Amino acid sequence: MSQITIVPAPSRVVPGEGTFVLTPETALVAVSSAAEVAALFAQQIAPATGFALPVMDALPGNRPAIIFVLDEAAAELGAEGYHLTVTPSRVTVRAAQPAGLFYAAQSLRQLLPPEVFRQSLVEGVTWTMPCVEIEDAPRFRWRGAMLDVCRHFMPTDFVLRYIDLLALHKLNVFHWHLTDDQGWRIEIKKYPRLTEIGAWRKETLVGRMQRDAEMVFDGIPHGGFYTQDDIREVVAYAQARHVTVVPEIEMPGHAQAAIAAYPELGNTGESPGVRTYWGISENVFNVEESTIAFLQDVLTEVLDLFPGTFIHVGGDEAPKKQWRESPAAQARMQALGLHDEEELQSYFIRQMDAYLTAKGRRLLGWDEILEGGLAENATVMSWRGVRGGVAAATSGHDVVMAPNTYTYFDYYQSADRDTEPLAIGGFLPLEGAYAFEPVCEGIDAEYAHHVLGGQGQIWTEYIATPEHVEYMAFPRLCALAEAVWTPAEGRNYADFLARLAVHLQRLDGLDVHYHPL
Ligand code: ACM
Repeated sequence: MSQITIVPAPSRVVPGEGTFVLTPETALVAVSSAAEVAALFAQQIAPATGFALPVMDALPGNRPAIIFVLDEAAAELGAEGYHLTVTPSRVTVRAAQPAGLFYAAQSLRQLLPPEVFRQSLVEGVTWTMPCVEIEDAPRFRWRGAMLDVCRHFMPTDFVLRYIDLLALHKLNVFHWHLTDDQGWRIEIKKYPRLTEIGAWRKETLVGRMQRDAEMVFDGIPHGGFYTQDDIREVVAYAQARHVTVVPEIEMPGHAQAAIAAYPELGNTGESPGVRTYWGISENVFNVEESTIAFLQDVLTEVLDLFPGTFIHVGGDEAPKKQWRESPAAQARMQALGLHDEEELQSYFIRQMDAYLTAKGRRLLGWDEILEGGLAENATVMSWRGVRGGVAAATSGHDVVMAPNTYTYFDYYQSADRDTEPLAIGGFLPLEGAYAFEPVCEGIDAEYAHHVLGGQGQIWTEYIATPEHVEYMAFPRLCALAEAVWTPAEGRNYADFLARLAVHLQRLDGLDVHYHPL
């Protein structure tokens, strides 16, 4: 291993001789619209170094300098790629787009001593960077992390911190799981009961959910939601860090909190209450025109808040029992000329696909949306292993790989469960997360371009606090970052582990509550 310990590993690294030393006199220069990235870099290194480096638009004389250049000539590295050169007298960053400069800045932070990540002044450190030449660009355009804020609500402050941590690892999608049986977490102005009622459950199951075992509850109300102002803050914060926020509004299943708020959306006419335990709820949306219209109204507000292309509509784990038993649902199936309840779900999702497509957006759903026929413009997120992803890519649809086998970070990370906090089950050690390959077996070269990338999931049934989220996410998310950023031929677990030893010191600086190695 060289002194270069950047995570995720860059495409090409050529170590040089000597070092560049960052001092209070270093000139920080931004050429042609590079100022925003340069200013964020200055802000990020300020607390630990104590240096307040102003961003200048021209090089003052012959001072040692860090220069950020937005340069069309760097376009061969793509919209997110960058070129970085460190010599003893100058650091030069070139990229065609601000995203590339931003990723170069994340690499620069990681060339400095790990203490630079501390949030208060560190004395006695010389802020050196090893001389090096780096050329870097991501392997995939979708480098994501999903956070479930429904099973346990996570405060906005933590969401912002999480986005910072994603960006540090050059991840660019924050998939925000905002609605589920146990809580509706996004303010919708037209339907206030979604949060007045749906954001709160009266208590929560204690311990692990077990079939046929008597359930014990804590008697403690749990809830919370994001106002539209909170959401605008998160989206803007993410945008400044080149992270796209993809909201997930679940339908037709995982809808019990919404049905608790508006029982007319369900199949029984009664409020099931906001769910207080885990597992799959039978309470799914009905298929009436009025319900489709309600959800499209919800999406209208969602589209106003989230400018990104993709909108996730869930689609997973929607039991068909209530539709089979509901005369209204059966009549609707007949009237639409559909053969079974799978086709009814497909019809439901197609209504959303048509709506989103007409608004210039793209529908994304979990791989169950393949059942009963995949909507025309849909993109599939493959979670039950890779099978759904392979099927969708091979039939010409875009896919995001999120297989539970490699990317479910709510699974245990040690073989010895007794040494770990209660988790949902499974076993996904760091090495398993590192082995994630989004273009998996079964996807021939001609379909590989349909694999947009991959992402890691944090479901929070058994994860009640931000600290616990961090414990489950890190360092597995570091491994995932390398799987979606670094060229396949540049990946090596032993080398990753060596770099990770230094990287964990960076996370220490940020007080990340990671799982120790
Ligand atoms: C899922 O884990 N139900 C997407």
